[in-house]
Amino acid sequence: MNISALPERGLARKPFGRTTDGVPVDLYTLTNSNAMQAAITNYGGTVVTLIVPDRQGRPADVVLGYESLDGYLADSPYFGSIIGRYGNRIGKGRFTLDGKEYTLAQNDNDNHLHGGIKGFDKAVWQAKGSLAGKDPTLVLTYLSKDGEEGYQGNLAVTVRYVLTDDNELVIHYEATTDKPTPVNLTNHSYFNLAGQGAGDILGHELMINADRFTPVDEGLIPTGELRSVTGTPMDFRKPTAIGARINRDDEQLCFGGGYDHNWVLNKRGREMSLAARVYEPSSGRMMEVFTTEPGIQLYCGNFLDGSLVGKASKVYEHRYGLCLETQHFPDSPSKPNFPSTIVKPDEKYSTTTMYKFSIK
Ligand code: BGC
Repeated sequence: MNISALPERGLARKPFGRTTDGVPVDLYTLTNSNAMQAAITNYGGTVVTLIVPDRQGRPADVVLGYESLDGYLADSPYFGSIIGRYGNRIGKGRFTLDGKEYTLAQNDNDNHLHGGIKGFDKAVWQAKGSLAGKDPTLVLTYLSKDGEEGYQGNLAVTVRYVLTDDNELVIHYEATTDKPTPVNLTNHSYFNLAGQGAGDILGHELMINADRFTPVDEGLIPTGELRSVTGTPMDFRKPTAIGARINRDDEQLCFGGGYDHNWVLNKRGREMSLAARVYEPSSGRMMEVFTTEPGIQLYCGNFLDGSLVGKASKVYEHRYGLCLETQHFPDSPSKPNFPSTIVKPDEKYSTTTMYKFSIK
């Protein structure tokens, strides 16, 4: 690659379009010293592009998405977005807290998924780019009002994206509330380390640092069991191609249409630890996911079917991207044995996840 063509470290902003209500949104491009770039819009806090070099130094965009806001407004299965107030499902859109039952928006059959009909992925966030610290940073804030999608409490949310010179995209999530509420924030990027639109992700080799997973029922709601991965297609403790066992006759894979499950990470507490590692052999790109969260959802684009056309006119076919969503476990508000997701007025919600890129 022509060295003089490398983009300079910095932060740039340009218009990205207007919402259907006419609200203008922007695209912020963070560039580090190695020409790695993350372009993020304040519509949904969405990671629109992520440019990462391969083992020859050739850059490619490794996330699925759209070139302009219109694509996201028209139809997006949460490509790259911040998910909230609650990542993944809450069964029947109902939970009980302090003896009172709450009813949430049902947007996935009779379940509540990814925050409801208008989750944080569809909100326009206040944005502030900064180069003042060591690394290019985008700070996004959003006030989720009391009653939004059925949740009580005004929830003030801050998400900070930082791109470091060690090729890490770090995401800090913070929130405070004035009434007790479940909170479970994540990012829904669909990765393809060979480059977006380049094919399916079945050849990606995956390691998940987890001895157990949370099995689900046919509606993808956890049963409450923490089940050992031993002897199942869920055992990714040793790096294994995602496609190696995906067609096995297995009840869990059948319910998910492939992998669409939460793993219980091996860790002591809330420390930042390695959750997963993905390697794509043809490009040599590797991504490691570190998090303070107790769980991670692997979703393999099982619902992509070639009907969405994304950046550079790429058609997103079945399993063209994989999501590794760091999180608390789905349906925790109704599962007393899962780590609690309830945030109280005198507490601060604070989690960090880092996607670190390298080559092998
Ligand atoms: C969920 C899938 C869902 C997808 C939406 C994933 O996080 O686990 O079940 O269909 O998001 O794109």
